Amino acid sequence: MTPLTSIDDVLALFEAHGDDRYDEELSQRDHARQTAALALAAGADDALVVAALLHDIGHLLDLAAGGTADVPRLAHHERVGAIALSELFDESVTAPIALHVEAKRYLTAVDPDLVDRLSNGSRTSLGRQGGPMDETELEHFRTRRWFAEACALRRWDDDGKVDGLVVPPLSAHRSTLERVARPQP
Ligand SMILES: [Fe+2]
Repeated sequence: MTPLTSIDDVLALFEAHGDDRYDEELSQRDHARQTAALALAAGADDALVVAALLHDIGHLLDLAAGGTADVPRLAHHERVGAIALSELFDESVTAPIALHVEAKRYLTAVDPDLVDRLSNGSRTSLGRQGGPMDETELEHFRTRRWFAEACALRRWDDDGKVDGLVVPPLSAHRSTLERVARPQP
């Protein structure tokens, strides 16, 4: 997998594969835009808005590698995305992305009703991802740096799946992406 080294690389990935729904009921582009809009509405800082926008970029990288939701080529999309983005962004962006699956396992353990509110794709993947955390895992996860950010991102992720909702286009986030990105040589 080639690392993403510019904002243009990131936007080109959405251009090429953002129409794909992967395992959701709306396009990956719309899901990213809605998740970022929820982060903005909640007053998240720029880095967390970028994390919200790019949290599922691992799915786009999988599509670029010839994978599909049913037969992925790049497993663990949260890690794939965080690693691919690590040249461009520091851990204030990549850590919440890397932890957003663990955060689902955490949140479904502390609020079992959440399982029923997950999208079909997310509920199906929860089992593959280890299911809700047990007590030991919960205690450990609460001590992780970026715990709060990962949980916030996860809630926006689960709510950012409304078919047809009108939110700002991807291009509206370009200046935020540029502000948060590491200085480029
Ligand atoms: Fe997501």
